[in-house]
Amino acid sequence: MCGIVGYVGKRNSLPIILDGLKRMEYRGYDSAGVSIINSENKIINFKKAGKVDEMSKSIDKDIFSGNIGIGHTRWATHGIPNDCNAHPHFDMDDNIVIVHNGIIENYKQIKSKLADEGYTFKTETDTEVLANLINYYFKQTGEFEKAVRLALTDVNGTYGIACLCASEPDKMIIARNGSPLLIGIGNDETIVSSDASAVINHTRNVVYLEEGDMAIIKENGFKMKTIYDERIFREAKEIDFLIESIEKGGYDHFMLKEICEQPDSIQNTYRGRINFDTGITKLGGLESVFDKMLNAKRFIITACGTAWHAGLVGEYMLEQYCKVPVEVEYASEFRYRRPIINPDDVVILISQSGETADTLAALREAKKYGATTIGVVNVIGSTIAREVDAGTYVHAGPEIGVASTKAFTSQVMSLALITLMLAAEKKTISKDSLKEIATELKSLPGKIQNMIDIRNEYKKVAELFKDSRNFLYLGRGINFPVALEGALKLKEISYIHAEGYPAAEMKHGPIALIDENMPVVFIAPKDRIYEKVISNIEEVRARSGKIIVIATDDDKDIGSYADHILRVPRSSALFAPILNVIPLQFLSYYMAVARGCNVDQPRNLAKSVTVE
Ligand code: G6P
Repeated sequence: MCGIVGYVGKRNSLPIILDGLKRMEYRGYDSAGVSIINSENKIINFKKAGKVDEMSKSIDKDIFSGNIGIGHTRWATHGIPNDCNAHPHFDMDDNIVIVHNGIIENYKQIKSKLADEGYTFKTETDTEVLANLINYYFKQTGEFEKAVRLALTDVNGTYGIACLCASEPDKMIIARNGSPLLIGIGNDETIVSSDASAVINHTRNVVYLEEGDMAIIKENGFKMKTIYDERIFREAKEIDFLIESIEKGGYDHFMLKEICEQPDSIQNTYRGRINFDTGITKLGGLESVFDKMLNAKRFIITACGTAWHAGLVGEYMLEQYCKVPVEVEYASEFRYRRPIINPDDVVILISQSGETADTLAALREAKKYGATTIGVVNVIGSTIAREVDAGTYVHAGPEIGVASTKAFTSQVMSLALITLMLAAEKKTISKDSLKEIATELKSLPGKIQNMIDIRNEYKKVAELFKDSRNFLYLGRGINFPVALEGALKLKEISYIHAEGYPAAEMKHGPIALIDENMPVVFIAPKDRIYEKVISNIEEVRARSGKIIVIATDDDKDIGSYADHILRVPRSSALFAPILNVIPLQFLSYYMAVARGCNVDQPRNLAKSVTVE
């Protein structure tokens, strides 16, 4: 959520900052801006509502030149997205300039105290208040570093910041509390960013800031401290992905690329973790807590958005195959409703980014009560991955499209692997079933590829419904969360209202919505509740709803019930959600394209929500 980039070195910082902002735009894209210290040691600033490209086109590149600079792409929290509220923000003397991710919760109190001291403000943002608080301490101490430090000890809330000071033009100061930041170590240059994708073009060598860390960056390198002035040293790590993985590679959109990558991303999730002869699964990252998992009285899965849907699939898997009770909670609710958590509970946190504020807070809440915490995370080295007791990376690779696709299927795959590992040890699954599942797993990437190859079939159906105002998605059992995910994908990128429901629950309310204008997507694989779903289809047909069915290849009867059929390969219940969601991803993608929507940057959304 929001992207920060900064440069200190010998090159002109502007092109590096603009390239970094462009690469991070999936984090927020309602306005963008840049501040640079020029050769006369003056801070020049330009910011604009809209996408990075608009800002980039309007900026006067002849004037904007200098070796130290910061930039920001915004997802509005305080103040509407306009030129004025865009970052960077100055203090009232135009001496200090700052870019900020996160929320300063006590900004109103600080603002009124500063106002009493004669400070004035031009914007509605919490960030401008922080800039002026730094100014306040700078006036008292005459030292930029000390001023930043003192200001940060006054604020409550979350921040990742980068700031410059015209009175001390040789340095940039950055700090982190709850909002990710990293330092890319280049040759005679340092590139700072909230996201490795903005740095990878220049260096693979990075230092991740931890909570309460600060860094003072100059042309000849950087030193790190805590905000309480203790010297610290953090080891550099290598970025684990290639630049090609964050580029579109010939696809029209990142979302399409990521949908089509799923044969590979799924393999990357299970590669080296399962023995295909025996079905025995080993997740090295969970070994240290495996006994706790075996003896757990209860699993709690908590996450947000798409990751929460993966958690619901996990609930079905763990309960059915491991015979252990599971609860699934929205992380945002979990953190505030004073949940009853026991030390023998295992709490699984699922997060693509590993930075979602609510999921991180849920993790900290669970730790407070002594529960064992496990991460199912995509981004390596992210905060959640670092703070959990143990974890398993889903290895889906960078996901740039705001609507999550391959991360979802890899999250579900990770939960399937956890399920198999536990079930084998608990002996709640037979050896033969384990072998069968392992054999089936081998065929999964090929089955996904088959669906990708027939995507035009899905596209034709999508285009027929592009003008629909509403959609219902219905599924039962392990496919109910798939219905939720299908509806979420459609809402996110097409702005068509959609609801996911358990198919049988439809008659307790949503059935009132059904008429000849209501398309209803049924997920109806030939499994043990197939007949029940068919009855639900009949109920919709009787009311003239338009019926689209996700049906398995071998289902010859479905034609008499459905207006449109989206075919999927048959599989065991464990992997069915992974296959069944793919036509739904295509359906939403092609509908959004047909409606002329910005698929990779849907309005109001952000890829990683690092504020509450
Ligand atoms: C945002 C994204 C969703 C994502 C959710 C959780 O809302 O737009 O796609 O599912 O955050 O993100 P996480 O990174 O924790 O999986």
